[in-house]
Amino acid sequence: MSRFPTYRPRRLRRREALRRLVRETHVSATQLVQPLFVVPGTNVETPVASMPGVAQMSVDRIAEECQRLVDAGVGSVLLFGIPDTKDATGSGAVAPDGIIPRALAAIRRAAGDLVVITDVCLCEYTDHGHCGLLREGEVDNDPTLEVLAAEALAHARAGADIVAPSDMMDGRVGAIRRALDAAGFEHVPILAYAAKFASGFYGPFRDAAESTPAFGDRRGYQMDPANVEEALREVALDIDEGADMVMVKPALPYLDVIRRVKERFGYPLAAYQVSGEYAMIKAAAANGWIDEARAVEETLTAIRRAGADVIITYFAHDVARGLGRP
Ligand code: PBG
Repeated sequence: MSRFPTYRPRRLRRREALRRLVRETHVSATQLVQPLFVVPGTNVETPVASMPGVAQMSVDRIAEECQRLVDAGVGSVLLFGIPDTKDATGSGAVAPDGIIPRALAAIRRAAGDLVVITDVCLCEYTDHGHCGLLREGEVDNDPTLEVLAAEALAHARAGADIVAPSDMMDGRVGAIRRALDAAGFEHVPILAYAAKFASGFYGPFRDAAESTPAFGDRRGYQMDPANVEEALREVALDIDEGADMVMVKPALPYLDVIRRVKERFGYPLAAYQVSGEYAMIKAAAANGWIDEARAVEETLTAIRRAGADVIITYFAHDVARGLGRP
């Protein structure tokens, strides 16, 4: 390929209008999902210190925020609930009048058309902060499945559009699918956190969701960052068990995983630009070390270019509003 001077790639780069014409990858607000943290009470808006611009909000505030997101053109929200009280079995997760069912009711009234995804996990609801039930200090897989299925069912009954298990227990997609089908919710899709890595980039989220494990870490159930073949097996399992969409998480450090999952399975694929990815950009921008709008656009474009259809990102609202550009 030494066709210079016949071929000059710069010819199509001379103006933004030309660059736009031949651009291969696009990021649109309709493909973005804004995560939201719902807390008990009314009129509560508590900023998350490690995530500037993100706040925990009570149900009433969440409903207003959802209305604004719809107006801005954001496609969807992902709800994380922080319950009134936590206990060893995470009973707040399955309560029909729990924090997520209450939020769903309010969002439906305020922003009917929004696609509402709910996080299905126990770490926000357990007093020990692990994603499942404990036995002798270890997360016990199979008994946890029943609770996760009950949680997903409570969300579906309250009107969730999509349920998204993030716990990484083996067999949970199948357990949730069976529970939903048996109760007449065969139309509710599952977005499986299929390849979720035990990442150092979740720290700020654990402040926001108040879900830091009281002891140990999550390496016993989340994936080893070194493994991509295993990620493909995880995705295959979840699809086999009935996942409608699959996820790779985090996003930017795992672009190769995103690409391979997309190529291998061709399934609707979500990537989660997690709290630590958000915090890094925010912190560097606050110091004047990088241009926030450019860094956000570039990272989201890279994640889409790698093969993600949908991106879950704390920047969704900002992107929809044009990243503060006139
Ligand atoms: C837990 C859950 C986590 C995130 C989403 N769901 C944290 C964890 O596994 O500890 C992280 C999201 C983020 O960092 O933005 N069920």
